[in-house]
Amino acid sequence: MIGTSLSRWTLPHFAVALVFLLSAQGVIAAGWAYPAALVGAPGTLAVVHLLTIGWLTVLILGALLQFVPMVTARPASNGMMALLPLIGICTGLAGVVAGFLSLDGTLPAFLVVGLPAGGLLVLITTTMAAAPLAAALWHVRPMPLPIRFVLAGLGFLLATAGLGVVFGAIFACPTVFPWGRVFAGGLRVHITSGLLGWFTLTALGVSYRLLAMFMLAPDDRGRLGDVAFLLTAGGLALAWFAGLGRMLDLPLLDWLMQAGEAAAGLGVAVFLVDMLRLYRARRRPALELHGITAAVSFGALGVAILLLASLRVTGRLEDLAGPVLYLLLFGWLSGLGLGQLYKLIPFLTWLHRFGPLLGKAPVPRIEDMVNERRAAPWFALYFVAIAAGTVCGLLGWPSLWRVAIAAHLLATVGIALELWRAWSWQPHNAAASRAPAPTWPSNRHRQQEGALP
Ligand code: HEM
Repeated sequence: MIGTSLSRWTLPHFAVALVFLLSAQGVIAAGWAYPAALVGAPGTLAVVHLLTIGWLTVLILGALLQFVPMVTARPASNGMMALLPLIGICTGLAGVVAGFLSLDGTLPAFLVVGLPAGGLLVLITTTMAAAPLAAALWHVRPMPLPIRFVLAGLGFLLATAGLGVVFGAIFACPTVFPWGRVFAGGLRVHITSGLLGWFTLTALGVSYRLLAMFMLAPDDRGRLGDVAFLLTAGGLALAWFAGLGRMLDLPLLDWLMQAGEAAAGLGVAVFLVDMLRLYRARRRPALELHGITAAVSFGALGVAILLLASLRVTGRLEDLAGPVLYLLLFGWLSGLGLGQLYKLIPFLTWLHRFGPLLGKAPVPRIEDMVNERRAAPWFALYFVAIAAGTVCGLLGWPSLWRVAIAAHLLATVGIALELWRAWSWQPHNAAASRAPAPTWPSNRHRQQEGALP
């Protein structure tokens, strides 16, 4: 059972995603992108896509390869169908980045073709990755809340990438695709459906399931969970369709788009209240590090939504969109992602390596594979740096902001080393650090540890 529901491609996805995250942060800290350059500068656009496609999309797809068999009780796909999309997404992303960098002459002009061609490859391969996952989820009846969130998120992934390909075609061949004016207002739709639709809805769904499982909290969220889903997913769907119509100058759609965005913001607030209930109802009293980092990233999400709403009302969103996007990308999504990796990597490594030995030989505990005391300062530095960076961004201090970015790059390197240590952990490491007695967890014990989904 353990063998068939384990995806062997999840950990390679995580490794690739981390490489993209570290490279993107390095490029930003070096001053080749925003905040040292303009928001819409080609270098910034390239880095944004390293983060959104290379880091977050690959990370989430890797996590879903493991999450979907777990919630559907179906075998994981361990064949080429799980690996090919990863290769395709990375190749397509290379094309997209080359396309952006050709716009300002950093790379030869003909490489602009990388925008539509690479974008199309990303669209095709993310569809290849998303379709079997969505098909497996679709058949679960009754459909639990986390699955509804993830399905909606996967829909927004295709909507976002599809719109991106259209943008890419307009950028590369404006004479063949003369829709530049029509799509001028489309950036807001692309950003909202990517950051809130694809990433946030999926992250909310996965959080509902994983946090309940690891903290031993009730995962039936009742009415509040349903309201959070209807408001976020429904509001974003309304905003997406209204946004498309708005590009065609149809009447009333501006208003509908704002109503959809407001509903989604309200939905996030309901989710945050529900998360507070979930944390309070947990049966495992001591919070593990990943539970604490998740709470901090939920805080970042709340602050980002409040900032978005207040800047929209005061008409200052255009000027200050950069710091808010930064908080969403690094504080909320990447913060949650890194914190969950800190739980998932030892958990999956344990299942891969020691699961088959269960009952046949002594096996270590998952907690022996990590050292929270050593990792906690890196996470603290990470979140403090993001908070400082956001404040510097809002106050218009780009140089100090870059210092904060260098600090969270350093923290990410520290976290990545901790993840590496957990992955390459050997039983003699435990003997060296605190010599735990090897245990033979019974099924009941493993269920409590969350090892049995
Ligand atoms: C998961 C998928 C994606 C996400 C979350 C995403 C996110 C974003 C974000 C946040 C921006 C704004 C960047 C800025 O203003 O600095 C942006 C712009 C852009 N994206 Fe994407 N993107 C995705 C996929 C794609 C794909 C596959 C392409 C295809 C080439 C693409 C093409 C573009 C273009 C051309 C722009 C600039 C549009 C303009 O300035 O009018 N995106 N994207």
